[in-house]
Amino acid sequence: MAEQGSKAFYLTTPIYYVNDAPHIGHAYTTTAGDVLTRWRRQRGEDVWFLTGVDEHGTKVQRAADEGGVTPQQWVDRLVADEWLPVLKTVDAANDDFIRTTDPRHAAAVQKFWEVVRDNGYVYAAPYAGPYCVGCEEFKLAGDLVAGSGEFEGQQLCPVHGRPVEQVEEDNWFFKLSAFADQLIAYYEANPETIQPVSAYNEVMSFLRQGLVDISMSRSSVSWGIPLPWDEKQVVYVWFDALLNYATAVGYGADPSSDLGQRFARTWPADVHLVGKDILRFHAVYWPAMLMAAGIDVPRKVFAHGWLLVGGEKMSKTKLTGIAPSAIIDHFGSDAFRYYFLRAIQFGQDGSFSWEDMSARYTAELANGLGNLASRATAMVNKYCEGLLPAAGELTSAEIGLRDQLAAVTTQADDAMVALDFSTGIVAVKTYIDAVNLYVTEQAPWVLAKDEANNERLHTVLNTICEALRGISVLYFPLMPKAMVSLWSQLGADVAIGPIAEQLISDVASWGQLPAGTVVTKGESLFPRLDDAA
Ligand code: ME8
Ligand code: MG
Repeated sequence: MAEQGSKAFYLTTPIYYVNDAPHIGHAYTTTAGDVLTRWRRQRGEDVWFLTGVDEHGTKVQRAADEGGVTPQQWVDRLVADEWLPVLKTVDAANDDFIRTTDPRHAAAVQKFWEVVRDNGYVYAAPYAGPYCVGCEEFKLAGDLVAGSGEFEGQQLCPVHGRPVEQVEEDNWFFKLSAFADQLIAYYEANPETIQPVSAYNEVMSFLRQGLVDISMSRSSVSWGIPLPWDEKQVVYVWFDALLNYATAVGYGADPSSDLGQRFARTWPADVHLVGKDILRFHAVYWPAMLMAAGIDVPRKVFAHGWLLVGGEKMSKTKLTGIAPSAIIDHFGSDAFRYYFLRAIQFGQDGSFSWEDMSARYTAELANGLGNLASRATAMVNKYCEGLLPAAGELTSAEIGLRDQLAAVTTQADDAMVALDFSTGIVAVKTYIDAVNLYVTEQAPWVLAKDEANNERLHTVLNTICEALRGISVLYFPLMPKAMVSLWSQLGADVAIGPIAEQLISDVASWGQLPAGTVVTKGESLFPRLDDAA
């Protein structure tokens, strides 16, 4: 646990629109955030992991209208039936869940905009221009693409492929233009703040074109948080939603209160994890808002790629979403978490295919790790009555595996901390392959045929179990359920302690499982599936 007054590692996901149920695109971001925060916890860090939902705005209001219920009824039902359950489905261990209809949020949003207005960055003016309800975004001419076919002659949003709407209303404006130079200077001095590099470049070229002021309120929308100084208008949904990252951890609370102390412990956020669709909001508008209020800006925005369907972004608006349960009911949450972070380079687009997932499940999880674990626990039971044998003298083969565990731990740690999940996973996978090769080469089943080989047999079995001890801790943030099971099959929960308390920095210290530990052959970690390739 961190000492009082220290800074927690604070990570957020976007808060998702509750116009409809979640699909695997939303689950992807949440899973990535969960794996990273669990990894950070295994490093012994104090961590705060926030996710939640974005409930206001035109998009949600229209969905409720079409559903024939009030917006509040609509969001209450979807949050209870879909958005909270999906966290369990993907096995997320978030510390908090914010809803923008929470009273704690609304009051702090009003307070924030009062401060920005007092600081001179809010003024009244009419707005006329294009708006995409799918993005909930005032569009600039350069953002749009010409329609064809049924949309011939119309201007389309490139993300949603739908015509934009013309909006004309009296609004309050945020003086975004005042922050262009400050943002450019900040990002030039701190290029690691926006990742990957493609995202950094996109933001910089947008900033260098200059910024125009932007509406911070809507007068034609009623489903939102009223402006404190103009009750006929609501806060523009993005300028309500972005604030969740601060309101959820206690922005605006009395500094001596529990919530106020949480703000001191978490702010500024260490990582805002987002899809590249909402990069500009997070890397331009959001830090400008914070600068206008005199609050520290976040340390990093990481914009990952899109899960594609037929070459286009999977989307609620286009009804192309695959429900997370459609995959997880079959493969399990661990395999879901593994597959999406292993198969797609984080930061790039990727497609899901049942065949690819099934093939990797079989090759890497069932045959790779699952088989290694079941062979190891079965052999300790068969040859040593289920008690871990002591190792005798180590040969170069054992020393190689011992040293490789240290190297792999460092590689995985470097990669995970850099949000390069696939590299981190592959580092561990390479180790699993090496241990499997060791099993084949040492052939304990051959050693077991002659008692004269007993010491050698014991050394080999001990080595395999030690290697699995390390693997279970390294994969625990990625596949918590299976690794809890492996850890207990190894007897490590009794002999060493709970897996959640194991530090990455201790993984490589060899020989932690004492001789005599009770090893059990439990259920298969990754059972073979009917459609296995
Ligand atoms: O934008 N591939 O909410 P949203 C990968 N409420 N990730 C995807 C994805 C896909 N096909 N589709 C969605 C909003 N996501 C706002 C955010 S934050 C202050 C407000 C993920 O429901 C990805 O993280 O449209 C993306 O940025 C987010 O869901 C958008 O969710
Ligand atoms: Mg969206």
